[in-house]
Amino acid sequence: MSNANSLGTSLNADGSRKSISRISIADLAKFKRDGHKWAMLTSYEQMTASIFDEAGIPVLLVGDSAGNNFLGEENTIPVTVDELIPLARAVVRGSSRALVVADLPFGSYEGGPESALNSAIRFFKEAKVHAVKLEGGAKVVPQIKQLIAAGIPVMGHLGLTPQSVHALGGFKVQGRGEDAERIKADARALQEAGIFALVLELVPQSLAREISSELSIPVIGIGAGPECDAQVLVWTDAFGLTQNAPRLAKAYRNLRQELIEGAQDFAREVETGKFPAEVNSFK
Ligand code: KIV
Repeated sequence: MSNANSLGTSLNADGSRKSISRISIADLAKFKRDGHKWAMLTSYEQMTASIFDEAGIPVLLVGDSAGNNFLGEENTIPVTVDELIPLARAVVRGSSRALVVADLPFGSYEGGPESALNSAIRFFKEAKVHAVKLEGGAKVVPQIKQLIAAGIPVMGHLGLTPQSVHALGGFKVQGRGEDAERIKADARALQEAGIFALVLELVPQSLAREISSELSIPVIGIGAGPECDAQVLVWTDAFGLTQNAPRLAKAYRNLRQELIEGAQDFAREVETGKFPAEVNSFK
């Protein structure tokens, strides 16, 4: 367990509080310069936030993938700002070292710079996140510029952008053939607009390699091959909770099976009177 308490501080020898600094955007820029690869995980509540923080994951994403992995929706599209803010607040409270990035959900920024600013300000003030992410290329540059002018760091997202799944015709690899030029141009436009990092989802490995080596900001891949500067996974995919996880993911544990067996053990012990034991009972 990190020595941080819930306020993101630890105690000096004399009992006074000393601040633990979170990973910063400058740290991520240095990782890129040093060729140091890093991992990002999604998190939607305080338990996984504190666990992944303790594991040393430098960036936690309160993704709108909360829609299909936490809120029981079919995809990310129905997620609202009101739904995501309490989750983001819990992730910030649950972590003390990670940089916490929240997704701007579908419908909260497409209207233009003003609407993007209003949404991002809510995430900053109500959840105290450290950055926001939004999907899209050149068409969202005005929104990105407005946020950055207001002091809000922005992460971009290109390739398969799940909020546009219907327009894209499904969860398909993007940027094959001539479409690669469009994604490269968008990546340049976003970097030029001032984003601090870019998620590249479900694109050919060769395209991700080219973009990662051309851009000076970190490129975070998901289904984009090993040559990106960082990798992100949806945490429920990464630890075996998701049924039928996408091919782009790897399950590092089988928590679904662990939980099923744990729940069955509990039920069996209740049925047979083994739980609660004397140690769990009170006189
Ligand atoms: O919402 C999300 O989880 C994401 C990741 C897939 C990058 O955007």
